[in-house]
Amino acid sequence: MIPKTMRALQLESFDGPEGLHLREVPTPTPRAGQVLVKIRSAAVNPSDLMFLRGRYGVRREPPTTPGFEGCGDVVDAGSGMGSLLVGRRVALATQGTYGSWAEYTIADATSCLPLRARISDEQGAMMLVNPITAWALIDRARRDGVRGVLLNAANSALGRMMIRTAQARGLRAVAIVRSQTHVAALMALGASAVVLSEADDYAATLKEACAAHGCGIGFDAVSGKQTGQMLAALPRGARVLTYGALSLEPVQVDVGTLLFGNRAVEGFWLTEWIKQRGMLTLLRAMYDIQTSLASCMSTEVLATYAFADAPAGIRAYQDAMGAGKIVLKP
Ligand SMILES: NC(=O)c1ccc[n+]([C@@H]2O[C@H](COP(=O)([O-])OP(=O)(O)OC[C@H]3O[C@@H](n4cnc5c(N)ncnc54)[C@H](OP(=O)(O)O)[C@@H]3O)[C@@H](O)[C@H]2O)c1
Repeated sequence: MIPKTMRALQLESFDGPEGLHLREVPTPTPRAGQVLVKIRSAAVNPSDLMFLRGRYGVRREPPTTPGFEGCGDVVDAGSGMGSLLVGRRVALATQGTYGSWAEYTIADATSCLPLRARISDEQGAMMLVNPITAWALIDRARRDGVRGVLLNAANSALGRMMIRTAQARGLRAVAIVRSQTHVAALMALGASAVVLSEADDYAATLKEACAAHGCGIGFDAVSGKQTGQMLAALPRGARVLTYGALSLEPVQVDVGTLLFGNRAVEGFWLTEWIKQRGMLTLLRAMYDIQTSLASCMSTEVLATYAFADAPAGIRAYQDAMGAGKIVLKP
């Protein structure tokens, strides 16, 4: 029995976690091609933090329910192929009006991945955005024919997935971190070299590591001056794909690096990638992340918070992002 109303976290102003309130709202009804999912767990990602401040590529005016991904049971469907999913536990990505930080949400049937039993609800809630991004970026490196990849924010959940995926695909990975504490763990994970961005000899060490490990492409989640530093460390003709702005600073690149080295910076956004590469590639990625690459895609979960405690949980995550993810539960 689906209730007429449900509890949902509502963002009532773009004030970060302070703008969130737990409210009773109407339960949505799925339209053609959509499903209604009863949420078990919902993820909190850097994109959500930007959304809470009205600074993300997707912006909805308050009041609105945030949350771009989650895990739950499909309990209803509009007309179309969604009915095949009713009764299945799925990972879901939300696109439209409804976010995953609610007891129920709406997702396109094509944005749901039926989950294998061994994947927990918590891991299931983080099974789409980061794993598919890791798949897509490492796929790009393979198509570019490079021997190694360079990545920053390497201790992030996505950075760790990329290191493991690169290794599984026979590529080397040079990892940039800002703290010595992560070096040993990332080497144990499979990084070929870990470089400290705060070290005095950073530029020279980075260039040496890129040459030693055949890095021909860079994946940048930080932006600011790190984008230009990565580009300068890579060989002529290389590309840096900027996919995040954790520093909250604009990309800074020395013009000479671009002009005289035939190098370039590109933007990467998963939503755009899916549009460009199409449903068949997406299905291939979804299959791989639950089969051959399953061991590469786990995420460290630090704590679970009830919806009512979400503002406190999100503040804790914001203050120590490298410590692990938090998961929200109804
Ligand atoms: N473009 C896309 O389609 C797409 C898709 C998925 C994810 N992303 C992006 O990927 C990035 C990582 O996401 P995630 O979920 O893996 O993050 P996460 O696990 O929550 O980790 C955040 C990481 O960011 C690092 N960090 C925070 N501020 C930083 C700064 N100013 N300089 C350097 N590092 C900083 C932290 O480093 P410490 O460990 O040193 O604290 C931590 O490891 C985010 O920018 C996210 O928006 C983009």
